[in-house]
Amino acid sequence: MFELESAVVTVVGLGLMGGSVALGLKGHCQRLLGVDTSPNTCRLAIEMGVVSATLPLEEALPLTHILILAAPVRAILGLLKSLRQLPPPPQPVLVIDLGSTKNDIIQAMTLLPDIYHPIGGHPMCGKELPGIEHAEAAMLRGATFALTPLKRTSPAAKQSAIALVRTLGSTLIELNAARHDRLVSITSHLPYLLACSAIATASHLGQNDPEIRRMMASGFRDTTRVSASDVTVMHDILRTNRIYVKLALEQNRQMLQRLEELLDHENPETLRYWLEDLRSERLRYFPPIPKPSWFYQTQIYSMIIHGTTQPLMGTTTLAGDKSISHRALLHAALSPETSHLQNILRAGVTEAMIRCLRQLGVQIEGEGSELAITGGNWRQPGGALDCGNSGTTIRLLMGALAGQPFRVQLTGTTGLQRRPMGRVADPLRAMGAQVEGNYAPLAMQGGNLRGIEHSTAVASAQVKAAILLAALQAEGPTTIHEPGPSRDHSERMLRALGIDVRSEGHHITLTPSGKPLPPTHLTLPGDFSSAGFLIGAALVVPGSQITVEGVGLNPTRTGLLDAVQAMGAQVTLRNAREVAGEPIGDLTVTYSPLQAIEIKGDWVVRMIDEFPIFAVIASRANGRTVVREAEELRLKESDRISVLAGELRKMGIEIEEFPDGFAITGPQAIHPAQVDSHGDHRLAMSLAIAGMLAHGQTEVQNAQAVHESFPTFVSLFSRLGARLHGN
Ligand code: S3P
Repeated sequence: MFELESAVVTVVGLGLMGGSVALGLKGHCQRLLGVDTSPNTCRLAIEMGVVSATLPLEEALPLTHILILAAPVRAILGLLKSLRQLPPPPQPVLVIDLGSTKNDIIQAMTLLPDIYHPIGGHPMCGKELPGIEHAEAAMLRGATFALTPLKRTSPAAKQSAIALVRTLGSTLIELNAARHDRLVSITSHLPYLLACSAIATASHLGQNDPEIRRMMASGFRDTTRVSASDVTVMHDILRTNRIYVKLALEQNRQMLQRLEELLDHENPETLRYWLEDLRSERLRYFPPIPKPSWFYQTQIYSMIIHGTTQPLMGTTTLAGDKSISHRALLHAALSPETSHLQNILRAGVTEAMIRCLRQLGVQIEGEGSELAITGGNWRQPGGALDCGNSGTTIRLLMGALAGQPFRVQLTGTTGLQRRPMGRVADPLRAMGAQVEGNYAPLAMQGGNLRGIEHSTAVASAQVKAAILLAALQAEGPTTIHEPGPSRDHSERMLRALGIDVRSEGHHITLTPSGKPLPPTHLTLPGDFSSAGFLIGAALVVPGSQITVEGVGLNPTRTGLLDAVQAMGAQVTLRNAREVAGEPIGDLTVTYSPLQAIEIKGDWVVRMIDEFPIFAVIASRANGRTVVREAEELRLKESDRISVLAGELRKMGIEIEEFPDGFAITGPQAIHPAQVDSHGDHRLAMSLAIAGMLAHGQTEVQNAQAVHESFPTFVSLFSRLGARLHGN
């Protein structure tokens, strides 16, 4: 009676869950219809191809065989009431809900007219980002899907509901309503309240000690994650399940009290036994997952390095330049035509950008490093844009969003939240955008921009690129005066797209064309900053010789190359050529004795990302290498002066620290040690290379940060002869 393949399925409520279920059923039923009170959501559902049509419930009913109620619990109760009041459909209709509590819903279902065949349902999955734009069929795959049949549920209706669950790729569990509600009170509703209470406790304490924000690390973040859930959904759940929720709270109170008593127990080991038991229980529920491949590794991860006497030898190419990847993605996203990008960097930082652009309605297709991008018409995202740990993502996005007439929130990791955004927000404000806050999370509303003349306080390519992205969408020309030269990829790419961008010294003027950007077609050069680790390793591991082919050699980026050459490094450049307005070539670097050097002024900007590896190189050079006027380093993914010094000291490297730089007198011996990346990808990789020089085993903790910009680091260095692996 309710064969899925021949059924018209109507999903009522096209949010995250309704949208995901609809996507999972796409192609498995005769037709998918949608019902939603928000015209905007209906429009999105059609644009995204989630359903083939949207219409009011009363019009959908006569066409429907399977009706899926995907709304917060109290809205489902309202819908069930409407079904009783609306004219009954001529054909039998299977009604299944996706509500998170079952008792009230099942009771309301018993009152439905006979033409309806009801059954309760609850997929145990979700995410904190609401809205159809985050919907994905994958969310249901592998999730537990609870079915709660009623006495009146016919075998045909139950079979059809089971088929639906299987089609979604979920695993089935059958429970009565009371058992369901009791179990979820413990596995879902109590944890939500615990997370809320942890936030409330911290916020209370925070009134006395504002430093609490900076002391929140991943543990706090993980345990409080669910407190960011949709409040309407959770409020309905707590109200409709309050009897079981109160029982669960009571049990939990007793457990907490027991743990509190154990803190003062006469036998201190008793607390330990308890904790050990609970730990093994946790591991039994969630056995550690075998590690996936290094590429998408984001779990906590260590890199183990064995000091080597063996030289590193070989030839390689590298994934696309990080800065150019970000710009290419954004320029493509602003064009209504389809852009084709090759050798795009696929790593943590660019995944953040891709994720945000998709949330803004940009179509990005393709696996790996080849992407087809169609943008132009950005739409307001349903939730905050999460820029991960990527400063370039948030700053460049701010610039592009300044021209978009909707409100949007931007956020990121705690590491990103400590980095200054006022340097971008201020000029965007002067152009007419509203930006609330100078640190992430921040909110902004763009549109109606006017060109400005702006002097930047620091030579920052991120700031410059952000202003240029806004300038493209502004009325009249914009001029930027920089105190020194910063990387000029934006200018080069925009010029290649026919935009009027003129540079005179450190002064750049962009005159907008008033037309949408044309598509970007580009094969990206290899990332010079990633090459920096190969250059550094070749120069410090005795006897090494490494060739990097097709690497970007834009002079605003190659300060490290100039530095090591000035120190005496043997570097050969072959096949110098130009690709898409960027100079590239094949570099061969050979192990060489090095002399100390002093770096300051404009030179610092030209090697701004390379100081962690440069410090390792300096530790092997003869004499005192000094870096000054580099206070910007304190504002990178970590404080790359004090954190770098702290970790290198653990390896026995003596380093003097200045407010604006550091000095290292070499050559120094390096000892194996346990060191930490502090979530900074470049620090992780530099410490790994230092570890290659230490006799013994070095462990770089929190090495998953490497994934941010150089996911193939371990495999590539292993291929070149280094002894390292992930753990
Ligand atoms: C970047 C500019 C630099 C650099 C960052 C990438 C860019 O930052 O450190 O990794 O793509 O424009 P600043 O502009 O803050 O110096």
